Amino acid sequence: MDIGVNLAPEHATGLSLSNPVMTSAGTFGGDGYGSGVPIEFPWNELGAVVLKSTTLLPRLGNPEPHMTEQPYGWLNAVGLKNPGIAEFCEDVMPGFVDADVPIILSLAADSHEDFVSLAKIATEISGIKGIELNFGCPNTASGLDFGQNPEAAKRVTEAVKSQVHLPIIVKLTPNVTDVVEIGIAVQEGGADAITAINTVGGMSVDWHTGRPSLGNVLGGLSGPAIKPIALGVVYRLVRAVEIPVIGVGGISNADDAMEFFCVGATAVQIGSAALGRPNIYLAILAGIVERMEEKGLKDLPSLRKGLVS
Ligand SMILES: Cc1cc2nc3c(=O)[nH]c(=O)nc-3n(C[C@H](O)[C@H](O)[C@H](O)COP(=O)(O)O)c2cc1C
Repeated sequence: MDIGVNLAPEHATGLSLSNPVMTSAGTFGGDGYGSGVPIEFPWNELGAVVLKSTTLLPRLGNPEPHMTEQPYGWLNAVGLKNPGIAEFCEDVMPGFVDADVPIILSLAADSHEDFVSLAKIATEISGIKGIELNFGCPNTASGLDFGQNPEAAKRVTEAVKSQVHLPIIVKLTPNVTDVVEIGIAVQEGGADAITAINTVGGMSVDWHTGRPSLGNVLGGLSGPAIKPIALGVVYRLVRAVEIPVIGVGGISNADDAMEFFCVGATAVQIGSAALGRPNIYLAILAGIVERMEEKGLKDLPSLRKGLVS
């Protein structure tokens, strides 16, 4: 049985993973950089670790509260709180330098120029094997722009791609009229793979007090509630683009992951379900292997037949 995947088959270096289970940006440990994950946790057994969206300068994030539980999901508006790329290089990355697993850094920016500057810095960081461009944070003033405009999405992808030697993954927001149009645009811009989806815009309010649950009022929904949305987006993207699509959204067990492989995802990322429960990555991986054995599947693409040609 073969569970290895290559997220960048057309790239000179490729981006090979020993298995298709990845962390999702912002959800690995308490801070998205693995804080609070026990030292003995064997995270090297994951397919890849995607680290939190990091910006050029430090960001304090939105006013608290940042997160609230909802029926079948969570709303968050962290607002890209992060130490900035310089402190990331100095304090965070050294903890991952000897990692025996591909480390992918998520980048976020408010401007074309910042994305390019960030990517140039990231490409020089030893130990980083790939970059994920976050084109869809719904909790910041302008974070959505690139993911909502196909021309802008293509231009930024192209500019970053021309400056870096690392494989480029673009993460898309579902908060658009036609996500397929954006997927095709980033493929044209040279993206090696697409991650779908980021959180779904929303809010929650206490009508008794008239107060919103989140400090930022608006936030992004994640967890089981968004799984059907994510599956639908991945299904549509897989049929429209030729590059690998990484599925994320509401995956909390191996059966959820198998559904994403069934609609054509090359790999999966686990987000909210892993918050405070890092063991879930390996439980999902073990469950995938078990289900493949049960079904006599030689590899994951065999699951696609019927749905995806
Ligand atoms: C607390 C929290 C922080 C997040 N931070 C980021 C981030 O920094 N960058 C990003 O691209 N996505 C971020 N996300 C979105 C997740 O990576 C993921 O796309 C989304 O939550 C859907 O997956 P899930 O339903 O498995 O959580 C965040 C999600 C949560 C819940």
